Amino acid sequence: MDMPKAFSRRAARALTSALLATATLTALSHSAAAAGTLGSAAAGKGRYFGTAVAASHLGESAYAGTLDREFSAVTPENEMKWDATESTRNTFTFAAADQIVSHAQSKGMKIRGHTLVWHSQLPSWVSGLGAADLRTAMNNHITQLMQHYKGKIYAWDVVNEAFQDGSSGARRSSPFQDKLGDGYIEEAFRTARSVDPDAKLCYNDYNTDGVNAKSNAVYNMVKDFKSRGVPIDCVGFQSHFNSASPVPSDYRANLQRFADLGVDVQITELDIEGSGTAQANSYATVVKACLAVSRCTGMTVWGITDKYSWRSSGTPLLFDSNYAEKPAYDAVLTALGGSGSGGGGGNGGGTGATCTVVFTKTADWNDGYNGQVTVTAGAAPITGWTTTVTFPAPQKVSTLWNGSASWDSSGTVMTVRPTYNADLAAGASTSFGFTVQKNGSSSAPTVGTCTAS
Ligand code: G3I
Repeated sequence: MDMPKAFSRRAARALTSALLATATLTALSHSAAAAGTLGSAAAGKGRYFGTAVAASHLGESAYAGTLDREFSAVTPENEMKWDATESTRNTFTFAAADQIVSHAQSKGMKIRGHTLVWHSQLPSWVSGLGAADLRTAMNNHITQLMQHYKGKIYAWDVVNEAFQDGSSGARRSSPFQDKLGDGYIEEAFRTARSVDPDAKLCYNDYNTDGVNAKSNAVYNMVKDFKSRGVPIDCVGFQSHFNSASPVPSDYRANLQRFADLGVDVQITELDIEGSGTAQANSYATVVKACLAVSRCTGMTVWGITDKYSWRSSGTPLLFDSNYAEKPAYDAVLTALGGSGSGGGGGNGGGTGATCTVVFTKTADWNDGYNGQVTVTAGAAPITGWTTTVTFPAPQKVSTLWNGSASWDSSGTVMTVRPTYNADLAAGASTSFGFTVQKNGSSSAPTVGTCTAS
């Protein structure tokens, strides 16, 4: 085996994102991942980088692998909403949301609770209630959800989208607004604080990203809350952009004016329809705006892959439908100060050359184990491949076969290249293996991306 030597994080980051992980592949930690990931680069700036997650996709290895590699925070996309958690009055269903929460917790990710009081995805029984009953139901819903997740959620979107679009600056009509009046928002925040004093309480909305009538109305509400001691800690800016609704030129200034009220601000549902350089530039503008506002504590994109975006046809996310990094990904990483490739996404190999890697533990004993990584060529033949395996300290690899290794300076990241087994036909596989001394740690290692030539 080669002696440890410097490992090119930049090269690793630029590889194809066709990562496959197995259920046994549980040990990824953000601190151990290459510096060139969204989460680690954002952490370098004191921020988190999150994504909306759907529980139904967590079983897809490329989905979970990309999530675990790149992101340091999650927001359940639908699973904590009222229709998902209390479709029948006072019968609470937490299974799908719990799945996301436990996945995120096992990876050390932050979790944003989304959302407690919203006019949409609201069961019809709620809309049918009279005022007194509705107040009770709203406070009970807030209480039950926040108690269930107490200590696990860093911030809740307590109230979502309570204002109208357009120039009126008025509150949106909803069962809550129409029956309880303006005071329901304040009541929701007060109830939320009483249930979990440690969670950050946020107001979240869209079309409030620049200075306009709607954001002015939200601004005035937050200012009023702060002046009267109504508990509010943060404001979320959804930031759903497209050509008809581009990133506003006063985006940063708008974030700053809210921050100046004494609340944290976050970008909560970022997606930008488009492609190529234009999309990449818009993403960079958003990231730079957040970094320029000291109270902008983190950014969340509204999904991992274009394939599962709520507006998939607009290809608004950072990873394409095959989980390859798009130019927008590079732009975000570069804006975060990470080790961007400076170019677009791609395979990192010859045209069409891709590969995937899967780890399995093939033997396990008291103080050691054997691991195997299977490398599979994509739809085209390949003439070379490279992947990484990150071992939790203080594990040490004592033997490696069917591969040649180099090591990073920390001695935890092993980069493996072929020996005799570089050439693979389309879809064909080879594998390399290793023996590991546990030295007290039984955790599984983490495989990185595979790059092919
Ligand atoms: O799960 C059912 C499935 O069983 C059924 O067969 C299918 C048929 O339509 O519907 C599925 O539910 C869909 C759900 O997403 C899960 O995929 C709903 O119809 C669909 O309406 C729902 O859309 C969600 C939307 O909120 C609802 O308003 C999107 O996924 C979600 O991304 C989106 O998220 C919102 C934020 O919460 C608030 N801000 C705006 C943002 C985008 O609209």
